Amino acid sequence: MCGMIGSYSDEYRRGEARRTSKSFSDDPGGKDRHDLPAGVKAAVLVEALPYIRRFWGKTVVIKLGGRAAEDRASLQSFADDLVAMRSVGMKPVCVHGGGPQIGQLMERLGKVPEFREGLRVTDAETLDIARMVLVGKINRDIVGAVNVHGPLAVGLSGEDAGLLLASAVDPDLGFVGSVDRVDPTIIERLLAEGLIPVVATIGSDSSGQPYNINADVAAGALAEALGAEKLVFLTDVEGLMRDLADPTSLVREVTVSELSSLVDSSSIGGGMIPKAKTCIKAVQNGVGRAHIADGRVAHAILLEIFTDEGVGTMVIPDEEGMGVASVGADE
Ligand SMILES: Nc1ncnc2c1ncn2[C@@H]1O[C@H](COP(=O)(O)OP(=O)(O)OP(=O)(O)O)[C@@H](O)[C@H]1O
Ligand SMILES: [Mg+2]
Repeated sequence: MCGMIGSYSDEYRRGEARRTSKSFSDDPGGKDRHDLPAGVKAAVLVEALPYIRRFWGKTVVIKLGGRAAEDRASLQSFADDLVAMRSVGMKPVCVHGGGPQIGQLMERLGKVPEFREGLRVTDAETLDIARMVLVGKINRDIVGAVNVHGPLAVGLSGEDAGLLLASAVDPDLGFVGSVDRVDPTIIERLLAEGLIPVVATIGSDSSGQPYNINADVAAGALAEALGAEKLVFLTDVEGLMRDLADPTSLVREVTVSELSSLVDSSSIGGGMIPKAKTCIKAVQNGVGRAHIADGRVAHAILLEIFTDEGVGTMVIPDEEGMGVASVGADE
């Protein structure tokens, strides 16, 4: 890392050396951190210091994917990281998805999930299921895991205090919403009180009709409205891959223009499409950096934000790019 702290251009460029990240299956409770030699612990803290100074008081929106919220150990580790970020002066805002959990409850209730171009066809009953799972289950689970550390997290739905004003994306898809407007006031008030907002992405229109909004899109809209320093997606892959079948093709750093070409080139599919498009839009609209990282890796956000190497993909504005997307160390 370069010496001058305070400008993005020298803030951090990724070195070629990559940290060997531990997954939850390697280390379910993170217990072996107690075995680290004191010198290593001190070195980690020293490496983190410039980042802590840089991000003091800054808002970071973190979107947790549904699969990353599925098991108890990863959820608790994620919650610990939110509290750690707050403890070093950052203002974390959590936005969560829940695709797999919605699908599971639909199946238990005898409904067959149907997707068109990656979006879930959402009739009134499916909307009720999505709302129950997102607001009533996953949101509560995250809030509960954070509040193990004290009364810090407040869970809310995009329907609360006019946070996410929505309308139908396409009448054929039913109650799938797009974000028409974000009123971030309630989030700003919670952050000013030192609380950690946890947002389920159900929005509503002006008549009170709820809509299920893609959580990536909602997280991006919220990051823009809050003028966030960072938008971090925690998902179930290492990051953005040039070729999903090739594990050495992780893109570590990419400019907005380069990412737009990748989206057009069809090397990105499924749930990565809204993520990539949201990264592009958010960085174009003033969010400092967008990141896509592996939520299955223990303490992925801390590694992404507070270490030189990072663990996933970082999306930067064009003017800060060096011209070529940097890809995994094997290339
Ligand atoms: N080029 C690519 N690089 C990485 N992942 C890709 C790529 N193309 C498609 N994908 C798929 O995108 C998926 C991640 O999106 P997905 O919507 O499934 O998860 P999520 O958004 O984290 O969770 P949720 O939808 O519950 O909020 C990966 O599991 C992978 O299969
Ligand atoms: Mg998704």
